[in-house]
Amino acid sequence: MEKVKIATISEIAEKGQIYRRLLGKSYLLRKEGEEYIVFEYICRHQGADLTQGREENGILTCPRHGWKYRMDTGENIEGDGRPLKRCPFEIVDGNLYLILGSGNQEY
Ligand code: FES
Repeated sequence: MEKVKIATISEIAEKGQIYRRLLGKSYLLRKEGEEYIVFEYICRHQGADLTQGREENGILTCPRHGWKYRMDTGENIEGDGRPLKRCPFEIVDGNLYLILGSGNQEY
């Protein structure tokens, strides 16, 4: 299991959400209330990079075929129902570390 620093908590808290790329994948890091969430920002349909999608009123639309996701929960509201993948992470000394190699969690 490998941990990689991907952001500081203050960066996420300041903007509410930020994007990162790591090892060829895009991630969305969000603060929801007092909680932090990391989504793999890749469409569950055919793997489009969702940073190229359209965000409007908290809903993200995939740039390829239009599947839609809630950005706060990752719920798929238009598509086959598979939500965005949530990624395991740890917060240590104000830094957020993505945990790699443990498999992404789905909910
Ligand atoms: S790849 Fe996203 S809707 Fe098809």
